[in-house]
Amino acid sequence: MKLIDTHAHMDDEKYEGKLDSMIKNYVEEGMVLIINPSYDKASCERTIVLTEKYPMIYGAIGMHPHDAKDADEEFFSYIIEKTRNEKIVAVGEIGLDYYYDYSPRDVQKAVFKRQMEIAQDANLPVIIHCRDSHHDTYELLKTFKGKVKGVMHSYSGSWEMAKLYLDLGYYISFSGPITFKNSRKLPEVAANVPLDRIMIETDSPYLTPVPFRGKTNEPAYVQYVAQRVAQLKGISSEELVIKVIENTKALFTKI
Ligand code: NI
Repeated sequence: MKLIDTHAHMDDEKYEGKLDSMIKNYVEEGMVLIINPSYDKASCERTIVLTEKYPMIYGAIGMHPHDAKDADEEFFSYIIEKTRNEKIVAVGEIGLDYYYDYSPRDVQKAVFKRQMEIAQDANLPVIIHCRDSHHDTYELLKTFKGKVKGVMHSYSGSWEMAKLYLDLGYYISFSGPITFKNSRKLPEVAANVPLDRIMIETDSPYLTPVPFRGKTNEPAYVQYVAQRVAQLKGISSEELVIKVIENTKALFTKI
């Protein structure tokens, strides 16, 4: 069966020394591609190295809201330059996180907006991280309607909210939590999102799906996310993954 992971942090230190064998296995097991998003300058640099080394890994560059306080003009110039890299297919992950509030909210908003402008200028899609910040995230994305498209990564909101993002042209991506028994809102969202706007991901090394919850996540486990989403859509996992591959290529046009 083919597989795809639209969001995995393979540059995480947990995979150090293991990546060669992991990627070799993935090639044999049918993994088509992995998108590796960044969260700060060092992870952008590591991501670029991975995209050069492994054909199946594509990258996104950007400053996560947690680290927004570290974004300066030098960083913005750096990512503007790297958007031209042929295997950098998006700006991300960017957005707002009001759950942890690791950076002041006004700084998060300013850095988010600036990176949206960079994506627009580079004609690249965005990968959006949004936690407990749906109102402000939506309001900012709306100002770029028709100019920037993207994916709501590891979506955690309601179906009502998802409809608004769909109207802006965004894709909705599901990860491990869709497999959790206590997941209440997500099954409803997955059942309702049109097939041509769905993505799946692991967000490795975080958010490990059932039945491996508690262990380190890895892209191979995306099959459990695929199974659950496919079940909610009433189709086979194979059909779902084929659709997600199409959707991924439709949004990330450099792939
Ligand atoms: Ni992530």
